[in-house]
This record gives sequence, structure tokens and C-alpha cells, in this order.
Amino acid sequence: MSQKRRILVAGNWKMNGSKESAKSLIEGIKAGLDRVKTTEMAICPPFIYIPTVAAMLEGTTIALGAQNLAKEDPGAFTGEVAAPMLKDFGCTYVIVGHSERRAYYGETDALVAQKFVRAQQEGLVPIVCVGELLEEREAGKMEQVVARQIDAVLSAAGASALENAVIAYEPVWAIGTGKTATPDQAQEVHAFIRARIADKDAGIAEKVRIQYGGSVNAGNAAELFAMPDIDGGLIGGAALKIEDFLTICAAG
Ligand code: PGA
Repeated sequence: MSQKRRILVAGNWKMNGSKESAKSLIEGIKAGLDRVKTTEMAICPPFIYIPTVAAMLEGTTIALGAQNLAKEDPGAFTGEVAAPMLKDFGCTYVIVGHSERRAYYGETDALVAQKFVRAQQEGLVPIVCVGELLEEREAGKMEQVVARQIDAVLSAAGASALENAVIAYEPVWAIGTGKTATPDQAQEVHAFIRARIADKDAGIAEKVRIQYGGSVNAGNAAELFAMPDIDGGLIGGAALKIEDFLTICAAG
């Protein structure tokens, strides 16, 4: 394999925090940035804290991301947030199809693909999440599920669209459970995803970053990121702790 892709670590704060905690978290991360040498970092706060975090990240190398977006253009869609609004506040990334959105808000593969396309139309880089449930893994359906989720994006956007996208493999059984996939388990699925993309476009498959997500912590990040097809992490719980997040970023 050629040179490895640059590690990207993104903190997904989910629906956590307050004005105060958001500020102290960013201040703490900024204060420890000299520990992070090569990893690209991104922070995805809840929508309402985006302006505060955006102002604090100005002039740093840390990118800003959102956790979701509407597939529609701005208009009469109560409660939604449109892609141009995220752009307006300087977001680079936007998470699409997180398993919590799929499970609790009924997001289908088709909707996730539409959001992916809408994000890219606005120049946002989607971080598209895929991953199987425990029952699916136990039933031997892991590859089938992940392939279906990836194919929905490939058929809506085309393989070349992955040039400006990130994939996050997040086995649902590992999210917020403290049960991390082993580096070998994760590597196996990452290689499968890359091969699936290579069937359509080998050059893009080689370039696209595939993050691992699911109970990444300060103790396991380095061995996960050392795997040949793991290009960083999407971090939930540990992204809310200054020390842990910095250690994970420094592990890249
Ligand atoms: P976790 O969440 O690190 O708390 O498991 C990861 C994610 O859901 O993105």
C-alpha cells in the first residue's frame, strides 16, 4: 500500500454541553495543541454552540463541523438547519447518517444519501457514518449492511464524490458502550469498505479517509490508528474530556 492518509480526529459532542462547558473545553484543547503534531482535528458541537465554538476556533488549525443538516434548501422547515447556514458559520465538515439519527430519527439510507449530496453542493465535507447492529453482526450480516449503506451513497453521489468526503465506520454495538471493536475487527471492515469503493474507483478508494468510531479512548486510539485502513476516529464520549481528546489526537 502507498503512503497512509492523514489522520483525522473529529469530536462529536452529540447533545451535550453548555455555554460554559463548551468554552472551557475549547480553551483546554487549544492550550494543549502543541501535543498534536500531524493529526487533523475537527470539533462538531450541537448547532446552538456553533457560533461560540466558531469564534474560538478562529486562527487555529482545528476545523469546525456540524452533527446533521437538512436535505432541503432554506425555507419553511421548522426546526431544521440548512447547509448554507453551516457554511455561513465556517463549518468544514458535517456528520451525516450517524447511527443515532438512523435509529432515533428514522433516517434511511436514501435520506442519508440526499443529505450527503446536499452537503457537498454547499462545499461541506460530509462525514458519512455506516455500521452494523450487534444482531446483524451476530447473524453474519455485517458486510451486507455496511455494503448497503455505502452503496446508497455511491449510487446517489457517484464514487468520485468520495474525493471530498470522509467515511466513519461505527459499529453500533461499540458506540457509547465502552466496547471497542478490536483493531483487527475494525481493520477488517475498513478494508472491506475500501475494496467496495475500489470496485468503482481504485484511485478514490486509496484516497478516501475511513475513520473508526465507537468507544475510542485515550488508551486504544494509537493501536486503532496504526491499522493500515484506519485513518482516524470519530469520537463521542472522550471528546468531552480535554485530556482524553488531546491524547487521542496526539495518537495519530
Ligand atoms: P463514542 O461515540 O465514542 O461515545 O462511542 C462515537 C460516536 O457515536 O460518534
